Amino acid sequence: MNYETEYQSSLALEEAFRRELEALGFRIVRQPHGSDESADLIATTPHGEKLMIELKNLESRYVGRKSELAGKKKSIRDVPEEWRAQFAQQLQAIEARIRHLAKTSGTAVSLVVETAGIERESLDVTIPGRRPRAGHLHPITLMRQRIEDIFVSLGYAVEDDREIETDFYNFDALNIPEGHPAREPQDTFYTTDGFALRSQTSTVQIHAMQRRGAPVRMIAPGRVFRRDTPDPTHNPMFYQVEGLCVDRGITMAHLKGTLAEFVHRLFGPETKTRFRPSYFPFTEPSAEVDYSCFNCGGPGCRICKWSGWIELGGSGMVHPNVLRAANVDPDEFTGFAFGLGIDRTCARIYELDDIRLLFENDVRFLEQFR
Ligand code: DAH
Repeated sequence: MNYETEYQSSLALEEAFRRELEALGFRIVRQPHGSDESADLIATTPHGEKLMIELKNLESRYVGRKSELAGKKKSIRDVPEEWRAQFAQQLQAIEARIRHLAKTSGTAVSLVVETAGIERESLDVTIPGRRPRAGHLHPITLMRQRIEDIFVSLGYAVEDDREIETDFYNFDALNIPEGHPAREPQDTFYTTDGFALRSQTSTVQIHAMQRRGAPVRMIAPGRVFRRDTPDPTHNPMFYQVEGLCVDRGITMAHLKGTLAEFVHRLFGPETKTRFRPSYFPFTEPSAEVDYSCFNCGGPGCRICKWSGWIELGGSGMVHPNVLRAANVDPDEFTGFAFGLGIDRTCARIYELDDIRLLFENDVRFLEQFR
C-alpha cells in the first residue's frame, strides 16, 4: 500500500468534511494564537435542533466507527514499515482536527439555540401595552343626539320611520299633486314597483298624524335621498330632522318661539333667529329660518360666509290640505312644521369644507370627533 496516496486521500477526506461543514452554514476560523481552528455559526437559525442532528451525522460519517478514516486506521499496518508511525500520527492529527471542528460547531449551535430560547421566553415588562382601538359615535349621530335631547326636553316624541315610501307620503299628502313643479327638484330614486326613496323627512308628518292623531308633537330624524350629483355641499343621501307640532290654537308665534329656544340650547343663549318668507307646498305661510353665526355672532366671518347668518332650514304653518290628508280636522287644529339638515349643521359646526367627508368612512377623519 502506497503511503503517499493514502496520506493524500486522508487529507482529501478532511477537506471534504470542511466543505460539508461550511455548507451547513459554519465558518471555519483560525484562532489568532496557535494553529487551532474552530468553527462558528454564520447565521442564526430557527432550526438549531435540526442543525445539531446534521452535525452529529456529519461527524460520525467522517470519523465514526464505520467511516472511511476509520478504515484507513485499520490499514496502517499495510503501509511500509518506515512510514507506518508517521502515517498513524498524521491520521490521528486529521481525526483530531475534524473532531475539534465538530465540537466547536456544536458549541456554536447550542449557543444559538439557547439564546433563541431565552429570547422566546423572555418578557419585557417595559414595552408599552397595545391600546385597543375603541370605537365611537359618528359625528352625525352625535349631532342627531344633541338635537333629539333638546326636543325631547321640550316634550317632543322621536319618530323613526321608513326610508322607502309611496308617492302618496312623499308628495300627494304633502300637498304636492302629480304635475306640481315642486316634485321635479325632488324627483328621486324609484323602484320598479312604484316605491321611492323618500326625498324629505316631511313624509313622517303624515305617518305620525295617522298613527297618533292630534294633538301631536314629534321630531323625525333620518336619511333622505335626492338625485343630486355629489359635490362639496351635496350628497345624494343626507340627513334631515323633521319637526311637527299640531294642537288647538297653534300659531306662528309657537313656531318662532320653539326654534328660537332650539338654537339657544344648541349654540348658546345669545343666538338670534331670523325668519324669511318662503314657499313650501306643505306649509302656509312658509319661512326659511336663519340663526346668527355661532362663531362671529353677527359681524361676519368665514363660517357664515361673511353674512352673519347661517341657514337652519325650512318651516311654516302646516297647510290645511296636509292635515286633511292625515285625517286631522283643520277647523279644529293648526300646527307648525320645520325641516333641518343635520349634516349641513354638522359641517358648519366642524368647519368641514366638503360634506362628503361625513360619508366616506375614513377613520382618520372620523377619529377626530370622539
Ligand atoms: N322638506 C323640506 C325640504 O326637504 C324642508 C321643510 C321645509 C320641512 C318646511 C318642513 C317645512 O317641515 O315646514 O326641503
